[in-house]
Amino acid sequence: MLPTIARESDAVVMIDQRKLPVEEVYVRCRTAAEVARAIKTMVIRGAPAIGVAAAWGIALGMRNSKATGTQKFAAEFFKTCELMAATRPTAVNLFWAIERMKRRFAAAATAGESVDQIKDRLDVEAQAIHDEDVASCRAIGAFGAEVVPGDARILTHCNAGALATAGYGTALGVVRGAVEAGKQVAVFADETRPFLQGARLTAWELMRDNIDTTVITDNMAGALMGQGKVNFVVVGADRIAANGDTANKIGTYAVALLAREHGIPFYVAAPLTTIDLGTADGSQIPIEERAAKEVTHVGGTQLAPDGARVWNPAFDVTPHRLIAGIITERGIFRAPYTESLKEAFAARA
Ligand code: MRU
Repeated sequence: MLPTIARESDAVVMIDQRKLPVEEVYVRCRTAAEVARAIKTMVIRGAPAIGVAAAWGIALGMRNSKATGTQKFAAEFFKTCELMAATRPTAVNLFWAIERMKRRFAAAATAGESVDQIKDRLDVEAQAIHDEDVASCRAIGAFGAEVVPGDARILTHCNAGALATAGYGTALGVVRGAVEAGKQVAVFADETRPFLQGARLTAWELMRDNIDTTVITDNMAGALMGQGKVNFVVVGADRIAANGDTANKIGTYAVALLAREHGIPFYVAAPLTTIDLGTADGSQIPIEERAAKEVTHVGGTQLAPDGARVWNPAFDVTPHRLIAGIITERGIFRAPYTESLKEAFAARA
């Protein structure tokens, strides 16, 4: 399986997603600050993957701590959590992972464990978050495969694959699940301007798996659907509000509208760690705005005039009414989402 992120003795190692598909290089982060920087600068990206990276970053940072007393160690721990939380605002998996590490810390500290014991606990917890993410993706793939047509022509947006998770992927997990179930699958990958996760990453990882892949620019999706060449759409998510409104990569909303117009089912695939019942609807989801240069330049080549004003939101919100179902590791949940998503969590408890 693709090595998105791994913990080694003195480092957290990640494949550098900024360099793919041209170069396959790995970044070794030796401190929590280096992990935080890798998340912020998109060495690693994708909602579940940045949650896993934050957990590993906290475990690594605390492993490096020189504190001998629990009080100083606790102060460092909370500072490290803040560092991770300040990286990217939209994907809720990041905050979920930090909260889980905090709960583990609190349980160990309350039990009176030593600094060394707490360090071990944090490593074990990060490994559990990592392993559970892979297991969730595989379950998403198996559930999602059931709703993929036998002769599938699937459109996806951005990269919700192995690279965006600890492995296997969410939307691309559904693709992989359908292939493993013996379905005929062809994938159209939106290139996904401005960061080009579709052209660079989705195409790269699907081609490695020998899955039939065609790259299109984002403005070709309507024509493709109009010609009857798509019969299923599946995308990932960065945060799903309690009513099912879904924040995902910028451009997802337009794809969902096109799918509705053409009568094509539009599914969201995401683990429960992406669902935020504390956020009532999509209008409450914080949307990250990124640097103008991502829009004005491509691969170092300038496209827009010097000083051109730019709007560069990294995500948009697809209203729940456009979503046929949310594919999770607990099954597929459908409208009305306010009820069904609550049940998803109850089913887990
Ligand atoms: O800005 P990115 O590349 O982190 O955005 C990623 C996406 O929008 C993905 O579709 C989403 O995180 C789901 S990943 C399984």
